[in-house]
Amino acid sequence: MLKKIGLALFAIFVIIQFFRIDKTNPEVIAENDFINVVNPPEEIAAIIKTSCYNCHSNTTQYPWYSNVAPISWWLKHHINEAREEELNFSEWETYNLAKKVNILKEAIEEVEEGEMPLSSYTIMHSESKLNADQVKTLIHFFETLKAEYEQEAQDFLNESTKEEDDDEPISNLKLNDGKKWIANPETITGINNMIAILGDPVEEERVILYVARGQQLMEEFKLLVSNCTMTGEAHDQLHNYILPLKEKIELLSNCEDTTACDFTSLDILRFLNDFNNYFEGESLPS
Ligand code: HEC
Repeated sequence: MLKKIGLALFAIFVIIQFFRIDKTNPEVIAENDFINVVNPPEEIAAIIKTSCYNCHSNTTQYPWYSNVAPISWWLKHHINEAREEELNFSEWETYNLAKKVNILKEAIEEVEEGEMPLSSYTIMHSESKLNADQVKTLIHFFETLKAEYEQEAQDFLNESTKEEDDDEPISNLKLNDGKKWIANPETITGINNMIAILGDPVEEERVILYVARGQQLMEEFKLLVSNCTMTGEAHDQLHNYILPLKEKIELLSNCEDTTACDFTSLDILRFLNDFNNYFEGESLPS
């Protein structure tokens, strides 16, 4: 009996070897490639090439075990996921500023937490494992780059809206004696829903998609306003917050070219994230 099962398993193993994965890499266009465009210091370029490019680029080098099913399928699945759904360094320059900033933010988190490179990968590729120094260097580099992109977006916004105070705080709010104001749960949910709407990268950079997003935000905004149960000074502060928010959303709903739309949505996202610096939810009764 055991022998039969063994033979059957072996037969299956042999048969699945015929289902080979497609190992052709999509074309690499130099003008879009991260390392080529961003031109990081050599040390950084080496780290990213060794530890990230095999999955997150179109220059995958397939290891010997990629010839063995079902490992090969699992591997291919990972590479597709890493490239298509998350981050493809070979297509960096095709991403808009908001997406670049978003990816860098996630990359910092992933590297900090030791989630990237995937541990299932570093087992087989010890050279890709990052030591503590490399983690620090890489994070520092990502942070600097992210700040540059944010600045670029901010400059554009300043130029296009003629508000030139760089040091101006994101929102014009006061704290409650150094503490945050308490916001009702519907308000918190509304803000979080708006962050979620903008956090999703747009499928295609088309004005109509951004405008649709603006309208989606406006729905959330109206819901938030009608569900607000806050009173007193907290309510006044919320008022100071939602007026500029409304203006920004209207700007997005009426934006006319993809760059302007892109930066406006990035600006709204920053503004929404700033909400948490001034408000918090009621703490749960203990
Ligand atoms: C073995 C392949 C592999 C390697 C090497 C790898 N990644 Fe990933 N990465 C993935 C896969 C698969 C996902 C999507 C699933 C997940 O989040 O676990 C992903 C997701 C990500 C995400 C998106 C996370 C999110 O929550 O949206 C970022 C950012 C990222 N990787 C950055 C990096 C960086 C930076 C490196 C190099 C230091 C790296 N990865 C190395 C496979 C890899």
